[in-house]
Amino acid sequence: MTEENKNINTEDYQYNEKFDEKLMDHDYDGIKELDNPAPAWIMAIFYITIAISIFYGAYYFWFGQGMNQIEEYDTEVAEAKAMYEQANKSTVDMVLLTDDASLNEGKQIYVDMNCAACHGENGEGNAIGPNLTDASWINGCDFNTVVDVIKNGRATKGMTPFKAQINDEKIQKVTSYLLVTLKDSKPANAKEAQGEECK
Ligand code: HEC
Repeated sequence: MTEENKNINTEDYQYNEKFDEKLMDHDYDGIKELDNPAPAWIMAIFYITIAISIFYGAYYFWFGQGMNQIEEYDTEVAEAKAMYEQANKSTVDMVLLTDDASLNEGKQIYVDMNCAACHGENGEGNAIGPNLTDASWINGCDFNTVVDVIKNGRATKGMTPFKAQINDEKIQKVTSYLLVTLKDSKPANAKEAQGEECK
């Protein structure tokens, strides 16, 4: 025993007596154990995890309902591929449409895609984009050129490409809306002509 240990007052150990009722029988080389159960909240978490594991095991393994990582991956890849194809595939013959239903849809696409931000609510043009209702066109007024401008944009001139956001069918409809409904509509505050007159 070191000098220090000798000086410990044995009365200090009286404190341990209050644990006596919890003292368990076994005694290994003077080391005793007190019966201190884990608090109820820890036990609750413990039992809940066991309960959850039963449902988890049943769902994913015994009944094979849930998807494993590889299946989840394959599903997501398939979804992404379908979306990509939807955005790029030409599902329709690209021709000018003139029926009311298509033109109304085209108008809705013009609204939904916020073309108005750069071309005005009625295609009259604003500080950013040109007038889409007059006879003057910067890129040309034939159907295929207008489709190309909307689809691929004019990046250096500030026209957004829309091919990733709307499919060909929608591009066809919004193009038709411009070339049929908006054409010569003479909206208020029309921007001055830009480009060349196109018949
Ligand atoms: C971020 C602003 C912006 C948005 C949004 C935008 N445009 Fe444009 N657009 C422009 C600009 C700028 C030009 C002029 C490009 C150029 O000088 O060739 C343009 C040009 C065009 C042209 C060709 C005009 C011409 O005279 O050759 C068409 C058609 C067109 N936009 C249609 C649309 C449609 C349809 C939408 C919505 C689906 C749309 N734009 C959304 C900015 C925009």
